Amino acid sequence: KERTFCMIKPEGVARGLVGEILTRIEHKGYRIVALKMLRLTREMAEKHYAEHREKPFFRELVEHITSGPVIAMVLEGPGVISGLRKLMGATNPQEAAPGTIRGDYALETGQNIIHGADSLASAEREINLYFRPEEIMG
Ligand code: GTP
Ligand code: MG
Repeated sequence: KERTFCMIKPEGVARGLVGEILTRIEHKGYRIVALKMLRLTREMAEKHYAEHREKPFFRELVEHITSGPVIAMVLEGPGVISGLRKLMGATNPQEAAPGTIRGDYALETGQNIIHGADSLASAEREINLYFRPEEIMG
């Protein structure tokens, strides 16, 4: 069964959007098979965003994602990797369609509320970064 990794970023938690986001995910039909709240260490954040290490905004990204608690989860369902990305909307919330999470609740790329793995390889890597196998419900 297809699985992906999803995170509600610090601004999503701080703004009280956790319930709203979980509702959209569940109403779509995806199953939450693991979920935890945690605050990322700098080391974890650098691993999470390793693909962006050379980008000019990397420092800002790490500062931001470590700035407060996040919700990390594993979602399961047919086509969930690309399906979650559709629920999220475009990276830049000003370009994200209304009806998407970023389109409805955000205005800035650096404060775009939610993260979703962008490929099967990323999903597997990120799930393993945040969860031990026994934390994931079968
Ligand atoms: P994620 O699901 O968070 O990985 O978003 P994405 O896959 O839609 O975008 P990408 O992986 O390209 O970028 C990762 C994150 O970096 C984005 O979600 C943004 O929060 C942030 N980001 C991307 N581009 C910029 C930028 O130009 N400036 C800033 N400050 N942040 C950026
Ligand atoms: Mg990405």
